[in-house]
Amino acid sequence: MEKLVIEGGRPLNGKIRVSGAKNACLPILAASILAEGKYTISNIPSLVDIRTMLSLLGEVGVETDRDGEVVQLNTVADNDAFTAPYELVKTMRASVLTLGPLLAKKGRAKVSLPGGCAIGERPVDQHLKALRLMGADIEVEHGYIDASCSRLKGAEITFDMVTVTGTENIMMAAALAEGKTVLYNAAQEPEVVDLAKFLKKMGAVISGEGSRTIVIEGVDRLESADYNVMADRIEAGTYLCAAAGAGGHLILENAPVYAMKAILDKLGETGLELKILDDSTIDIRSEKRLLGIDATTHPYPGFPTDMQAQFMAVMVKSRGISVITETIFENRFMHVSELKRMGADIRLMDKSAVIKGVKKLSAAPVMASDLRASASLVIAGLMAEGTTEVHRVYHLDRGYEKFDIKLAAAGAKIERVKE
Ligand code: UD1
Repeated sequence: MEKLVIEGGRPLNGKIRVSGAKNACLPILAASILAEGKYTISNIPSLVDIRTMLSLLGEVGVETDRDGEVVQLNTVADNDAFTAPYELVKTMRASVLTLGPLLAKKGRAKVSLPGGCAIGERPVDQHLKALRLMGADIEVEHGYIDASCSRLKGAEITFDMVTVTGTENIMMAAALAEGKTVLYNAAQEPEVVDLAKFLKKMGAVISGEGSRTIVIEGVDRLESADYNVMADRIEAGTYLCAAAGAGGHLILENAPVYAMKAILDKLGETGLELKILDDSTIDIRSEKRLLGIDATTHPYPGFPTDMQAQFMAVMVKSRGISVITETIFENRFMHVSELKRMGADIRLMDKSAVIKGVKKLSAAPVMASDLRASASLVIAGLMAEGTTEVHRVYHLDRGYEKFDIKLAAAGAKIERVKE
C-alpha cells in the first residue's frame, strides 16, 4: 500500500495538462464489443479503472494493446464469451457497461452484479428494466445478471431517475436493436454525448444526445472506428479546486471548457480570478481568502456530484458559511469526518453539510474512502499547516492520472511513499 505525504501551505504555480476523461473512455471501450475489427482509441488516461476495463474486454474477445495514451483494440469475430466475472466487476462498478453491448451483439450476457460502494447502494435496476422492455430475459442469480435475447427490439423507455451509465448502456444496446428506441429522462452528461459521437462513427443512428430525450434507430451491423476521447472535466475541476484552496496561479491546459460551465460558475462566485484563455485553457489566480458559497449537486448541466468533495475542501477555509447539498448519492460525505480531523468546522444535516469557514487547517493523518473523497483530502493537505498523510491512495489511482506528479510539477510538496 502507498500513502501520499503532503507538506501544506505552498501555493501552486505553473501549468497542468488535463488527461482524457475516465468516464467517457469506459463506455467507449465497452462499445468495441459491438463490432468486429480494429480500433485506435486515443487520449486514454493511465488509470486502474481503464486497466480493469481492458481486462474485461480481454475476457470477451477483444484483444487490447496499449502504448501511452493510445489503445489499439481488435474485436475478433465469432467469439462467444459473454461473462464479466466477479473478480473484475467487484473492483469497478462501471463494468456493468459491458452488459448492453454483450447482449446486443452476442444475444447473451452474464455480468456480475456490482455491489454497493462507499458512496451508496447504487442499484442497476434501471439498466435491467430498460433491457427487459427491449425483450431481454434477465435472471439475477448467484450474484450474476444473466441476460439473453434473440435480437433486442426498440422500445420507449422512461428512466425513473437520471442515470449516466444506464443511459450509456441502453444507448449501446439500442444501436444494434431492431427498430427505434426512445430514451426519456436520459442523462445529458458530456460523456454520454462523447459516447454517442463514437457510436455514430461506428455507423449508429442516434439523435438528441445531450438533451433529455435520445432517439436511436437500430441498425443491422456496426463497424469498428477510431476515436479521440474528450478531456476530463472532473480532473480539470479538481485542479482548479486545488489552486483555489492552496492559492497561487495555475494554467490548466487541454481542459474541456465547453463542459465545465457549472464548475467554473461556482468557483467564480467565490471571488477568485478565473480567465478562459481559449476553449481548452483556463487561467486561475487565487490570492485572497475566498467567499463561502452554497452548492447543490444535480445531474448535468448542474453542479456535478463528482466535484462535491473537492469543492468542500476549498470551502472549509473560506469566509462565512457555506452549505453543500448532495442530491445524487446517499452517502457521499465520507470526507467530512476526515476534514474535521484537520480542523474543519462542518455539521452534517441530512443531505447537507453546513461549513463554517476556519482561518487555518492543521495537518493530520487521514484516510481516503473513495475516489473523489481522496482528491478532497489531498487538496485539504495542500491547504493545511504541517505534513498531512493521506492513506489508501489506491482510490485516487482509479481516477487520476499521475495526480501527485502533476501537482508536484506545479509546485506542491507531495510525495508517494510505501507504507
Ligand atoms: C456515473 C459516473 C460517476 C458519477 C455518477 C453521477 C461513470 C463511470 N460514473 O456513475 O462518476 O458520480 O454517474 O454523475 O460514468 N440509480 C438507481 N438505479 C439505477 C441506476 C442509478 O437507483 O439503475 C441511482 C444511483 O444509485 C444514484 C443515481 O441513480 O443515486 C445516479 O446514478 P448513475 O448516474 O447511474 O451513476 P453511475 O452511472 O453509476
